[in-house]
Amino acid sequence: MYRLLFRLVLLRLSAEWVHRAAFALLRMAMALPFVRALCRWRLSPRAPELAVSVFGQTAPGPIGLAAGFDKDARGFEALSALGFGFVEIGTVTPVPQAGNPRPRMWRLPADRALINRLGFNNGGIEACAPRLARPRRTFLGVNIGKNKVTPAEEAIADYQRAAARLGPHADYLVVNVSSPNTPGLRALQHVDTLGKLLAAVRTTLDTASPGRRVPLLVKIDPDLPDDEIDAIAGLAVDLHLDGIIATNTTVKPTGLQSPQEEIGTPPKGGVSGAPLKARSLAVLRRLRARVGSGITLISVGGVESVDDVWVRLRAGASLVQVYSAFVYEGPLLPRRLHQGLLERLRAAGIASVNDIIGADA
Ligand code: FNR
Repeated sequence: MYRLLFRLVLLRLSAEWVHRAAFALLRMAMALPFVRALCRWRLSPRAPELAVSVFGQTAPGPIGLAAGFDKDARGFEALSALGFGFVEIGTVTPVPQAGNPRPRMWRLPADRALINRLGFNNGGIEACAPRLARPRRTFLGVNIGKNKVTPAEEAIADYQRAAARLGPHADYLVVNVSSPNTPGLRALQHVDTLGKLLAAVRTTLDTASPGRRVPLLVKIDPDLPDDEIDAIAGLAVDLHLDGIIATNTTVKPTGLQSPQEEIGTPPKGGVSGAPLKARSLAVLRRLRARVGSGITLISVGGVESVDDVWVRLRAGASLVQVYSAFVYEGPLLPRRLHQGLLERLRAAGIASVNDIIGADA
């Protein structure tokens, strides 16, 4: 039914407008306590086989919602009630910013892909922090970035500010240096700069959150050459980083079927969804071969089926995220993926999803 609605109605409307309207509707519906309770009861992963041990904590299921959907932490409880095992909010920057002019988000249905150049539109850390401070049920990642107007020399201070304000509320904190839509952001991935940035954020987190080590992760892009991915893996080991999220959107998509004018030359923004699948998996495999099981890997990019989830977990991802497939497949996707994974585990006689993580590595 969702696919029909998507093809006949939603595809004709602006992608960003549909996102806003659908998200607002979801939040309204889930504000009714009995609706939220019913959804949680029907849709949330509850089977003990699906519970994942990460960062010394437990996520109820390995399939989560990627950053960018709930940029301002307005509806993560509503989203998790749809059956996600965890949600990552953000990217949040220190100061509110409007992002790029519209239009800035498009669908490529022939490729089951999206293109966006939103540019970190968000309400800033001060608006976000109180929403994170409330009691919650969701396993929550917090993704932070720098403001567009902040010069490169002051980038580290931006991340420190955001980490100090939001880190204490996060189950894990992500330093996003991989969005293609903030000029100069990806340059922060060079190991010299990245090493300084991550060490500074680690110190900030330890000061802001005495007595609790907030897990620190970095999110990388899929367009990095392999030797730079290897360098980041080495850095992660040296710095005792808690995890790596791979990957963000690509600006070098290959094999797209959509008309060139819809994509743009170069692409109008970062491409996500199915065209990212092969590279995202290759990056995951490469990282796992270099960091082993000591550093948690979160795989994102082109995940759309139970098969994809299964392959990523076995390749070494402890958690898997979706974004584009959620747009194409609709609100029941997280429940379908968790259910399918559970059936596969049971059919194979495997007692816990923890037992397959890295089995093919
Ligand atoms: C994103 N993504 C993203 N990532 C991030 O770290 N911070 C962000 O603010 C955003 N914003 C954002 C907006 C939109 C519209 C999309 C489609 C994507 C990237 C996202 O988290 C994910 O890494 C990619 O979309 C790849 O996953 P999928 O879409 O192939 O499942």
